[in-house]
Amino acid sequence: MTKILMVCLGNICRSPLAEGILKSKLPHDKFVVDSAGTAHYHIGNPPDKRSITVAKKYGIDISNLKGRQFGVHDFDEFDLIYVMDESNYKNVLSLARNDLDRTKVKFILNEIYPNQNFDVPDPYYGEIPEFENVFKMLDEACSNIANTLL
Ligand code: 4NP
Repeated sequence: MTKILMVCLGNICRSPLAEGILKSKLPHDKFVVDSAGTAHYHIGNPPDKRSITVAKKYGIDISNLKGRQFGVHDFDEFDLIYVMDESNYKNVLSLARNDLDRTKVKFILNEIYPNQNFDVPDPYYGEIPEFENVFKMLDEACSNIANTLL
């Protein structure tokens, strides 16, 4: 089993989309995909309605996901940890205990633009077009992740 974790701030907008998209591209018997937020604001909450709507438009159901907070135990559980932006990167790395933990953490857009450390923009204060834009970025990044892993 290869285990992949998607991380954003709230675990309601970007990382649940990334989780649903990557799950749709990988066989469930060989890969586990999960998501978490660095903040505690939305623990137990479903994804943002706008993320649910955009995912549904592309045939992906994320309505049953529940927000949870990233914890140090996630470094033991997961092989790859993809963050959405620099703030997530700093927050996750601040919990890393050693080089093995640190090497697991990657900017998801580096899968499209290697070594650029670009942010997936936070769509929380945007509208549906911002969520569509995030979906398209994550879809391209997740296609590249799946092609590398398969
Ligand atoms: P996410 O977006 O990190 O993509 O889930 C956000 C969700 C909630 C908040 C910020 C960003 N918030 O401040 O509550």
